[in-house]
Amino acid sequence: MNQQAELALDLAQRAQDHIDSERLQDAIATLACFGGRKDGGVSRETLSDADLAARRYLVDQARALGCLIETDECANLYFRRPGLTDLPPVLTGSHNDTQPVGGKLDGAYGVVGGLELIAALNDAGIQTQRSIDVVAWTNEEGCRFGPGAMGSSAFVVPARLAAYRESVDSQQITFGSALDAAHAQFPDLGRRPMSSALFAYIELHIEQGPVLERAEVPLGVVTGIQGVRWYRVTCSGMAAHAGTTPMDERADAMVAALGMANQLYAYAASQSVSALRLTLGQWRVSPGSVNTIPGEVVFTIDARCIDDAVLQRFEDELRDVTRSWTWRGHIDFECFFQRSPTAFPDAILDLIEQSCQRASRLAQRAAPLRLSSGAFHDAMYLADHCPSGMIFVPSEKGISHNAAEATAPRDLFLGVQALAYTVTALATGVSL
Ligand code: GLV
Ligand code: MN
Ligand code: MN
Repeated sequence: MNQQAELALDLAQRAQDHIDSERLQDAIATLACFGGRKDGGVSRETLSDADLAARRYLVDQARALGCLIETDECANLYFRRPGLTDLPPVLTGSHNDTQPVGGKLDGAYGVVGGLELIAALNDAGIQTQRSIDVVAWTNEEGCRFGPGAMGSSAFVVPARLAAYRESVDSQQITFGSALDAAHAQFPDLGRRPMSSALFAYIELHIEQGPVLERAEVPLGVVTGIQGVRWYRVTCSGMAAHAGTTPMDERADAMVAALGMANQLYAYAASQSVSALRLTLGQWRVSPGSVNTIPGEVVFTIDARCIDDAVLQRFEDELRDVTRSWTWRGHIDFECFFQRSPTAFPDAILDLIEQSCQRASRLAQRAAPLRLSSGAFHDAMYLADHCPSGMIFVPSEKGISHNAAEATAPRDLFLGVQALAYTVTALATGVSL
């Protein structure tokens, strides 16, 4: 190992050893107050008032840590701890938005973990060669405005933003107008160009599934992310009187939608257990009256698999089911989000593994496990832009996208320790 790499690993260890568990827990609890719910969950959909208030809190925290704060055209927030050189920075972070009813950790943990890393570097008096930036990406969840991961994907390919601005929420508010309103709330922040050069991107996140907990392992080295496709299916029939229209003379959009849904679930069940994950999560019934036959039903499909060929076969099946359904109405579908599986590079996996091993060993816990991610993350787009990787900590009972989402404080602590080592090593001289 050359002298520069040795020094980098020494600084990485010092950064790891300065992570403060209590400060981390306080920050997680405080951020969870923005959009906090009585059931312990968080409702902080992207660019909502709660999200904007949480952003203000993060800006204040980062300012108190001495960071330079910037935003960009997609309202992503960047908190910079300047390095000694102008070399491309190391970026870490995650997203600040939640599902309509989410938990305290999905996304928030990665952002707060990044700020804890900066606090630890300050405490340790460590200067890095490269700047370290912490990012809070806009609209990762994709539930208020589809698709998901808008902020990170627009950062990587800025041309995507024009179409995203047209996306509407359930109140017919466009993403573009919500973005403009968000920018107006932070008029003094400088604008950073999209797609700027990065040395590496490391995202810390809860697993959101059961693998680490079942293995009794506190840290996961994420090898990649499964592919995802989102579809919108529109069944168009005819609204008519519920009491007077004979059953065999109806064009009931709900009958078509339920029939299709059952065929698709049966198809998914016929695949091997881990092959295809299928979710029909959003339904809109028009006119939505107790005594009117549904004239239109629109529902969404979320299909995921680590193998893109399985997703393509599912799409072929969806097309067949759509065409073969015979009734008085018609059915259309469109794919509005598609992402092939992501694989993270070996050099990043090895460094993350080394970081996790040291944190686990010092805590006398089991060695890290390599696993792939079932959820998508901003890191899947960043992987197109720079060497990227992810660190996972366990989710209790594998639960996420739910108010009950939780992770033991000692595991959250180890995750930020592993992040601190990885990011500091990258920012102080470890080459890729
Ligand atoms: C992200 O939240 C996902 O749905 O995987
Ligand atoms: Mn997330
Ligand atoms: Mn999520």
